[in-house]
Amino acid sequence: MKVHVAPAQALSGEVSAPPDKSISHRAALFGAMSSGTVRIANYLHAADTTSTLDAMRALGASVDVAAGEVVVRGVGLGGARDRGAPIDVGNAGTLMRLLPGWLASQEGRSFTLDGDASIRRRPVDRIAEPLTQMGAEIEPTGGRYPPLQVRGTTLTAITYVLPVASAQVKSCVLIAGLSAGGTTTVIEPAASRDHTERMLAGAGVAVSRDGLDISLVQVAALDAQSLTVPGDLSSAAFTIAAAVLVGGSRVLVRGVGVNWTRTGFLRILARMGASIDGDLEPVPAAGGAVCAAEPISDLDVTAGPLRATVVEAAEVPLAIDELPLVALLGCFADGETVVRGARELRVKESDRIAGVVEGLRGLGAEIEATDDGFVVAGAGTLRGGTIDARGDHRMAMLGAVAGLASREGVDVIGMEAAAVSYPGFLADLDRLR
Ligand code: S3P
Repeated sequence: MKVHVAPAQALSGEVSAPPDKSISHRAALFGAMSSGTVRIANYLHAADTTSTLDAMRALGASVDVAAGEVVVRGVGLGGARDRGAPIDVGNAGTLMRLLPGWLASQEGRSFTLDGDASIRRRPVDRIAEPLTQMGAEIEPTGGRYPPLQVRGTTLTAITYVLPVASAQVKSCVLIAGLSAGGTTTVIEPAASRDHTERMLAGAGVAVSRDGLDISLVQVAALDAQSLTVPGDLSSAAFTIAAAVLVGGSRVLVRGVGVNWTRTGFLRILARMGASIDGDLEPVPAAGGAVCAAEPISDLDVTAGPLRATVVEAAEVPLAIDELPLVALLGCFADGETVVRGARELRVKESDRIAGVVEGLRGLGAEIEATDDGFVVAGAGTLRGGTIDARGDHRMAMLGAVAGLASREGVDVIGMEAAAVSYPGFLADLDRLR
């Protein structure tokens, strides 16, 4: 579907951030792994998180979508059912990487996980390696990609040094650790989103942090709590960027999750000179028991001039899904904006370094790809033109925001991909116009 997004005059009004995708996936999964009933309010009803509900049903959990909430009755930590048919994760990388952490411990049962064309290009050797060290029998196709076979067996705890900062891989190992004899420790090269740690702490698991080391101890059962899913900063980021870029704008984004491991983008924007008021979570203490709470804030965003910035590797995992927007913001900033240490962008729903650079160049940007990021020469303006989302939800929304801020507007090819994480995106933008 090709959509023309015309330049906007000024955006104003209020919008609610759509429910958080990462937390919705985890809430459904942890509910299915529990023995009781979990009520999830404000669950994200989008393509990715619907794949998770379907997968949990396929594994034997009861999932009811009622007015305003999702009710999951779990099968218990060791109770996943093997239906014989492959589990379809659709486009959801988080589901593909987290679920094997649970299935690896389902003794005597075998599972196949598969997904769409994009999923089949995204590496899963990164989870196969630690799970194998724990004793799991797990076979990616060609050693590296989905479809993925998991045969459940007895697991042993390990200490695993993550080669890349990935919340998905960290979560997979921690989830397997719930059923592995001993204490499982994951050591991150840099902090990444910590929703798994917080939600497991809320489910009665002893999870602790010591700097970049996260540990948990095997449990007999999981007792996931009912919750209300906060708004998704990664989705809200598109509205926030639009409000910063379109002159004269002032937008209030309501109910955004502001867990500090998710707000790297807001810190980057603050460095660039953007005006965003909100009550952000401070960096927590470096050690001790993990606290379950997920803080929420409204964000009051005003348009204004931007200066260039440099994003280094340590900051990348804290803003990983928002880095395409940093490239767009860089086009309007004074000076040269650089993102480095972000090679992970090449293995997202699409190669987001190639897609951002080729896409924004097609709109008139001066931007160069590097091996692990990009360099943007700020011009203060963007012509517009046509951009191909390449089946990637965040690239589609990037194109739409570029259209609002451009001189001539942008045709976004493949706008429908936004439904993976933010089905109401265009409607929200229209409301703010
Ligand atoms: C996610 C982690 C990130 C992020 C993805 C969601 C999660 O992926 O890009 O959109 O929910 O854990 P990586 O762990 O591969 O960096």
